[in-house]
Amino acid sequence: MLCPEENELLTRIGPGMAMGEMMRRYWLPALLSEEIPVPDCAPVRVRLLGEDLVAFRDSNGNIGLLGEHCAHRGTSLFFGRNEECGLRCVYHGWKYDVVGNVIETPAEPADSDFRRKLRHTAYPCQEVAGVIFAYMGPREKMPLIPSYEWFDLDANQVFPVKSLLECNYLQGVEGDFDSSHTSFLHNNNIPDSAHLKRDGAPMLDAEVTHYGMRAISIRKIGTDQIYVRTSPFIMPSFSMGADRRHDDMALHPEHA
Ligand code: FES
Repeated sequence: MLCPEENELLTRIGPGMAMGEMMRRYWLPALLSEEIPVPDCAPVRVRLLGEDLVAFRDSNGNIGLLGEHCAHRGTSLFFGRNEECGLRCVYHGWKYDVVGNVIETPAEPADSDFRRKLRHTAYPCQEVAGVIFAYMGPREKMPLIPSYEWFDLDANQVFPVKSLLECNYLQGVEGDFDSSHTSFLHNNNIPDSAHLKRDGAPMLDAEVTHYGMRAISIRKIGTDQIYVRTSPFIMPSFSMGADRRHDDMALHPEHA
């Protein structure tokens, strides 16, 4: 059981927080491609690692992920006009490109070069398999984006979805590691999941790997077999659930 201080340390992911800095060393899924489907479409709000952001797709199809509030007077860029390769604030017309340059300040004197001294918060993005990933850490530490198998699948073989869970990331990770719930929560309509039904209190374990950890659950099956279910946990907060194909492969004699 975590003490309150440990819980705070592990779950605070804003800028400057220990786990926030760790999370910012990874490419993270920020939104779905379908949320900003075409050039110059309406921007959308994105909240990621405790930061309020706005995503947009410019006239050339490039993706911008900017701090939500205008550098001038703090107006939300969610209400901005996405036009001619930039997002224009509705209040005084400051216009931003996808990398955070202020490219126009029409309400300033004509000879003002003030905008050249500014750089708005902007995070690099990559779009893969219908998902837009963002990197929010230091540029000099930017890693390669991971090469998951599903990145190379045809579009008709990938089904990206997004759901809002009103909890912190660690509570989600706990659920992913907690295989015992699959015997109950995911079992009512799975008539042939006999392995899960027989032992609702599996032994849980974990193994450190080069990508994170492997969650392991071991269930007793009758008197002479165990059922081993594994699911990868990929840093910093991703999980892959075991599917039935892997379940079947993981049935081993207990004393083998
Ligand atoms: S508040 Fe955005 S341009 Fe003034």
